[in-house]
Amino acid sequence: MARRILAAGNWKMNKTPSETKALIAEMRKTCASDSVDVLLCVPAIDIPAAVEAAAGSNIQIGAENMYFEENGAYTGEISPAMLVDAGAKYVILGHSERRDYFGETSEDVNKKMKKAFEHNLIPVMCCGESLTQREQGITMDWIRQQVKVGFQDLTADQAKTAIIAYEPIWAIGTGKTATSDQAEEVCKGIRDLIRELYGAEVAEEIRILYGGSVKPANAAELFAKEDIDGGLVGGASLKPDFGDIVNYSK
Ligand code: PGA
Repeated sequence: MARRILAAGNWKMNKTPSETKALIAEMRKTCASDSVDVLLCVPAIDIPAAVEAAAGSNIQIGAENMYFEENGAYTGEISPAMLVDAGAKYVILGHSERRDYFGETSEDVNKKMKKAFEHNLIPVMCCGESLTQREQGITMDWIRQQVKVGFQDLTADQAKTAIIAYEPIWAIGTGKTATSDQAEEVCKGIRDLIRELYGAEVAEEIRILYGGSVKPANAAELFAKEDIDGGLVGGASLKPDFGDIVNYSK
């Protein structure tokens, strides 16, 4: 079964609800596609506006984070039920900015993964090495650790619907993209690990994205790689020309 390419945007802390409406109104045209899945992960407060603006189009809406408890005294946090009720279908978990600036551990990410599945939210779990780790030659050890802990106790059915985004930290927002060979090497390594953990069927089905300075100019080369099933796109998903990434093959 061929995996469909997924072009996923990560808006980070950008766009107000009214800006969201206006931008998605443009993107409905530029991001139209029959062959590529399109997802925009937006700030929690923008989700209702995004869902409304994308209604009836091919654009799906997701969140950028959530907490792993159902509800309670966690001031400022957002629960999975809140995301679902607002219309989110996906949630990014364990982005390197969450790990680095807000102290999220892989154990936290694992709790969030399990909680997301309880609520039928599809997690987009991020992993990635720092420049120092790459230079030390421990990239694959680190990524395997992040994925193993993040996926701890997930069933095979859950694992095959999850999405993994490989995002080398040194390539995020820096304009430095990993070469397509560097990106493929790690994405293949992740698929090999999933095969070890869950067997061939899950490994063939799970989608693995590359993220880190993906832009229209490099999307086609990256997405052509055997083990890269699309991109998680930050900066370049904040403009209508995100559609040039969605329509990378044209
Ligand atoms: P970037 O961000 O495309 O701006 O490098 C990617 C990400 O952090 O998901």
